[in-house]
Amino acid sequence: MAVIEVQDFKKAFGKKVVHDGVTFYVKKGECLGLVGGSGTGKSVLLRSLIGLEKPDSGKIHINGADATLYTEAQWLHVRKKVAYAFQGGALFDSMTVFENLAYPLEEHTKLTALAIKDKIFKQLDEFGLAGSELLFPNELSGGMQKRVGLARAMMLEPEIILYDEPTAGLDPYNTKKIQEAILTLKAKGVTSILVTHDMPTAFAVCDKFAFLKDKRIIEQGTIEQLKQTPNSMINQFIEGQIL
Ligand SMILES: Nc1ncnc2c1ncn2[C@@H]1O[C@H](COP(=O)(O)OP(=O)(O)O)[C@@H](O)[C@H]1O
Ligand SMILES: [Mg+2]
Repeated sequence: MAVIEVQDFKKAFGKKVVHDGVTFYVKKGECLGLVGGSGTGKSVLLRSLIGLEKPDSGKIHINGADATLYTEAQWLHVRKKVAYAFQGGALFDSMTVFENLAYPLEEHTKLTALAIKDKIFKQLDEFGLAGSELLFPNELSGGMQKRVGLARAMMLEPEIILYDEPTAGLDPYNTKKIQEAILTLKAKGVTSILVTHDMPTAFAVCDKFAFLKDKRIIEQGTIEQLKQTPNSMINQFIEGQIL
């Protein structure tokens, strides 16, 4: 069954049409690589999947339920299961790494302090951040800040994760760490969409790709399928021509 299904999605800002009939789905446990040039509406699409943008028309189904008609209260509920790991990471500067990770659990769960501490230390381990719990964001490298941001987005154990260029601007070491974290989450059955220009990461973690161009998904399929398609967009992606 598709966990995320988008059908004939249309979205404009004023006269500027960004999406005009976008259709794709992601099955349970799959990672879809969403690729497209700058300004093609990748972030708008991800934001729509957590209700931060409303489609002008078309359908969004999440776990089989029509999300198009959700109220803000229903979206709040959805956002506990669907994490959006966005570009900046946006940590709270006045909080330590530990406090940053504790925040979503304190806000949204009834876990005891001990259970929260346990979860945080496991998470730090998983993201290669052990030992950094008492540091403040400004004491971390940019790459570490990004990893803490990602670790925090994952604290509520979401079923779906939307990664918006998680490795942009990162050095190879931090890129590898993010790849590992994405693969660990995938092994747990998390369904995800990865927006990226980072080809090695996309190939390391994605099961299939969808290419966004001219307001639509113009091509989608598994890597094997795309490689057998003449003039596939995957070649442009591999050659770094999609910027
Ligand atoms: N809130 C908004 N108001 C007006 N235009 C927007 C808004 N959000 C995004 N856009 C426009 O929509 C287009 C797609 O943006 P975005 O999804 O951020 O692209 P990208 O594929 O680079 O992530 C851009 O032209 C952008 O300027
Ligand atoms: Mg974007």
